[in-house]
Amino acid sequence: MTRTLSSIAASIFSKCAPAFRRGLPECAAALALLCCLSGARGAAAPSQSAQVAYDAAARVFRIDAAKTSYILGINEQGQVQTLYWGSRLPASDHFAAAKAMPGMASFDPPITTTPEEFVGWGGGLAVEPSLKITFPDSARDLTLKYVSYAIRGNQLSIQMKDIAREVYVTLAYEADGETGILRRSAEVENRTDAPFTIEQVSAATWNLPSGTDYRLRYLTGRWAGEWNVQEQPVNPGKTVLESRRGTTGAQNNPWFAIDHQEDGDPEHGGVWFGALAWSGSWQISIEQDMLRQVRVNGGPNSFDFAYRLQKGERFQTPYFYAGYSSEGIGGASRLLHRFEIDSLLPHAPKPKLRPVLYNSWEATEFRVDEAGQMELAEKAATIGAERFVMDDGWFGQRNNDHAGLGDWYVNPQKFPHGLKPLIDKVHALGMDFGLWVEPEMVNPDSDLYRKHPDWVLNFPGRPRTEGRNQLVLNLARADVRAYVSAFLDKLLSENDIAFLKWDYNRNWSEPGWPDVAAEDQKKVYVDFIRNYYAILADLRSMHPAVEIESCSGGGSRVDLGVMRLTDEVWPSDNTDAYDRLLIQNGFTYAYAPGVMMAWVTDSPTWVNQRTLSLEYRFLSAMQGSLGIGADLSKWTPEELARASKMIAQYKAVRETVQRGALYRIISPEYEREQSVTESVARDGHEAVVFAFLHSSRELYPFPRVHPRGLDAGSTYRIAALDGHLAADTPVEASGAYWMEHGADLELRGDFQAAAFILTRTAAEPARP
Ligand code: DGJ
Repeated sequence: MTRTLSSIAASIFSKCAPAFRRGLPECAAALALLCCLSGARGAAAPSQSAQVAYDAAARVFRIDAAKTSYILGINEQGQVQTLYWGSRLPASDHFAAAKAMPGMASFDPPITTTPEEFVGWGGGLAVEPSLKITFPDSARDLTLKYVSYAIRGNQLSIQMKDIAREVYVTLAYEADGETGILRRSAEVENRTDAPFTIEQVSAATWNLPSGTDYRLRYLTGRWAGEWNVQEQPVNPGKTVLESRRGTTGAQNNPWFAIDHQEDGDPEHGGVWFGALAWSGSWQISIEQDMLRQVRVNGGPNSFDFAYRLQKGERFQTPYFYAGYSSEGIGGASRLLHRFEIDSLLPHAPKPKLRPVLYNSWEATEFRVDEAGQMELAEKAATIGAERFVMDDGWFGQRNNDHAGLGDWYVNPQKFPHGLKPLIDKVHALGMDFGLWVEPEMVNPDSDLYRKHPDWVLNFPGRPRTEGRNQLVLNLARADVRAYVSAFLDKLLSENDIAFLKWDYNRNWSEPGWPDVAAEDQKKVYVDFIRNYYAILADLRSMHPAVEIESCSGGGSRVDLGVMRLTDEVWPSDNTDAYDRLLIQNGFTYAYAPGVMMAWVTDSPTWVNQRTLSLEYRFLSAMQGSLGIGADLSKWTPEELARASKMIAQYKAVRETVQRGALYRIISPEYEREQSVTESVARDGHEAVVFAFLHSSRELYPFPRVHPRGLDAGSTYRIAALDGHLAADTPVEASGAYWMEHGADLELRGDFQAAAFILTRTAAEPARP
C-alpha cells in the first residue's frame, strides 16, 4: 500500500511540479492529494537532490539542493536568522544554534546587526525592513518572532508573529533540485480585529556571507538601449535598483548578481544572484551595513505604495528567486537559464522550441492590408519561416499611433473580409498565424475612450499625461479586466491564431483609482499586476495552444513573473545586429536565449544607418530565437536564397542554442572589438560558436577561440557554419584539444562574423 501511494504521489508530482513551481493553480487538487500522501509518510521527496531538514536540538533548518546549501536558524531571541548560503556542504556538517549579533553601542541594537531572514520595522531597526505596517492606533512597530514550521518535500514554511498583535507572517521556501535555486515569498495575515496598512513588504531578505570585497552586477537601459551590464563595488550604504513606472521597466531590470571583486574569470568563483518575479513597480536594495554584512531585499516598490489589509485578509508577495553558483557569473547565468526553461516557462520542463517567425512591423508599420501581408507571407514561407505575425495597424482606425487602441475590431478598409483570408493563406503556406495586441492601452481618439473615459488611470481634475498618444487602462478595475479578457477571448475564438505579441508601450502617470476608497487607491500597484497575470493565466487555460510574447516597446517587461505566463520576450526594438550583440549579452545574464527573440532586419538599419552583411545579421540573430523582421518584398532572389540556407542551418542547431548551456567566450562589454558566444547542447553532442569582429587593427589576427563545456575525452568534428576556419584547423580533435588549443577563424575587416559547429563523433576517451 505504501509503495502504491508513493508511486501515485511521484507520478502526480512529475506531471504537476512544473506548474506548481510556476505558482499556477492547474494542478492544485492533485497537489493537495500529493501533500496528503506525503504527509502520511513524513515528507515527499519530489526532487532527489533537494532536501529540507530540521535539527530540533540546534533549532536549525537546512535546505540542500543541487550544489547549494542554505541554512537558517532560530536564535535565542526567537528571530529567524541566516546562517549560511553557498556551496553545498556534507550532510555530516552540523551547525551550531543561531545567536543574535551583539549590538554596536547604543546606536545599533541587535535587531539591526542580526542578519534576519525577514525583519519587521520596529525595535530600532535602522537597515532596510522586510515589512513595515501602520496600525489603526497609529503605532508602526512590528517585532516578528518565530512560531512554527512545516516541511513538505522540497518546501519549508516558517510562521512568525508579532510579539503582541495578531499579525502573522509565513515565509515560504522552495528549493529546485536541478539548479539549487530557491524560491521565496512571504504572506502577511491580518488576524487582528481591524484593518492595517502595509507600507513596505519584501518577498525575501537574502543575507550574504560577511565580506568586504563584493562586486554588484545589475542591468540598466532605456528604449532601444536595454540590457547594459553595470558593475560596482558593494560599499557601505545602499544601492537601490527599482522601477517606479508601474511596470518592470528597462531602466533597471529586477535581477542582481554579487561576486568577489578579484574574480576576473567569468567561469570561476562564487556568485550569489537573484531575480524578482514581479511585473509592476519593484525595488531591490543591496545594503552593506555597519558590520559590513550584505543583505538584499526585494519586493513591490514602497514608493507611493500602501496596501490596506482588512481583518481576515492575507497579502501574498511575489516570488523572489535566488541561487548560488561556484562557477562564476557564467555559471550563474546558466543556472537561471536552466531553471527558466525546465521549471518556469508555461510548458516547462519541455517548452516548445521557438519557431522561426516573420514579423511585419519594420516592413509595413501601420500600413498593413490583406494584399501586402499576403505578399510578405509568401516570401516568408519561401525562406522557411514557420510563423507569420502581423504587427500593429490591423484594427480600429489604427493608421498611425494617434488612434484606434482599445477598438479591437478588424479594420474593414484594410481587411474587407476579416482576417480569415490572410490566416487561411498563411496556413496554406505552411505557417501558423500570430497577431499583435496592446490590451492595456487606449488612445483618447478611440470609441473605447469616448465611451469609458473613466477606465484609465487618472487623478480627477488633473491632466492625463499621454505617452505615444495613449493612456493606460486601469486593469485593477473589475470591468476593465473583464473587457480585456473578453476581447482577447473573442479574438482567439473567432480566428485561428497561434500566437499573440502582447505589447505595452508606455509607463504609468497619474496612477489614481478614483472609484475606490482613498485608503485603497494605492493598491492599484499590486491589483493591476495581479489582474494582468490573471488575464494571461485565464487566456492560457481557455486557449492552451496559443503562445504569447511579452513585449513592451522592446524589453521593458521582462522578468520572472511574466515569464511564468508567456513563451518568449522581445528584448529590444533596437534590431541593429551589431548593437544587438551587447543587448543580447546583457539580456542573457539573467534570461535564457531560448526566450530571446532576435530578428534579421534590413540594412542599413533604421537605428544607426549602419550597413551590415546578411550573414552578419543572421549570425547575430541566430544566437537567440530567430525571427525575420525585414521587408522581404525588397530582397533580391540571391538574398532570399541565402536567407533560406541560413534559416535551415539555424533550425539544425536551434535546440542547442535555445536550450543549451551558454558560455560567453569573449563578451562584447568594455568596448571590446570582438564578441564570441558558445552554446553547448544539453546532451553534449554539439557546440555552436558565433564570432563577431567590429574592426581589425594593425594586422592583429582574431583571437583564438577556446570553446568551453566540452567533454575533454570525446572527439569532436569541426565545421564552419558560416565564414572560414584557419586552413590548418584539424577536422577532428578531442574536446581537450578544442578547449585548450582552441580554433582559429579567418576574420578580418569591419563588421565580420563567422560561426562553427563542433559535433561529437566519438564519446570514448581519446587515446593519449
Ligand atoms: C513596439 C514594439 O516593440 C514593436 O516591435 C512594434 O510592435 C511596435 N510597438 C508597434 O506599435
